[in-house]
Amino acid sequence: MKKATLLAIASLLTSTGLGLANPAIESVMKEAFKGDTSLYKKVATGKGTEADAKRLAGYVKTLTTNEPPKGEKASWDKKTGELLAAVEMLAKGNKQGMMAAQKAGNCRSCHTAHKPD
Ligand code: HEC
Repeated sequence: MKKATLLAIASLLTSTGLGLANPAIESVMKEAFKGDTSLYKKVATGKGTEADAKRLAGYVKTLTTNEPPKGEKASWDKKTGELLAAVEMLAKGNKQGMMAAQKAGNCRSCHTAHKPD
């Protein structure tokens, strides 16, 4: 009960834009994006299988359904939506998704807009 209340307050603060970290986004970053051998890197450079791309699409979906801890929601929706579309192309074996996934998955451009300092 106490924990649920804290979580409710945390999500309230996040949605009011105080730049509080979003744990769902953090864990997607840690599990799928971080590092040179990440699932994202593998998929976006064409080294992943279609199954890898499907798994990554699941992570990216979590991004699309979460509020960014910083920045405009419209910008977040655009970035994560483009990334999801690209990864879903790869999950269907369409290699044209590769360039799009690299562009939409640009760490710095998304962090500048949406990652709290
Ligand atoms: C679509 C937007 C987006 C893209 C693309 C993105 N990130 Fe992130 N990332 C975020 C946001 C937002 C946070 C901050 C999460 C928070 O603090 O709530 C974050 C946080 C992180 C963190 C810190 C996690 C923690 O422990 O708090 C790491 C590491 C990270 N990203 C790595 C990467 C790497 C590497 C890439 C590129 C390969 C990348 N990210 C691409 C949005 C993105």
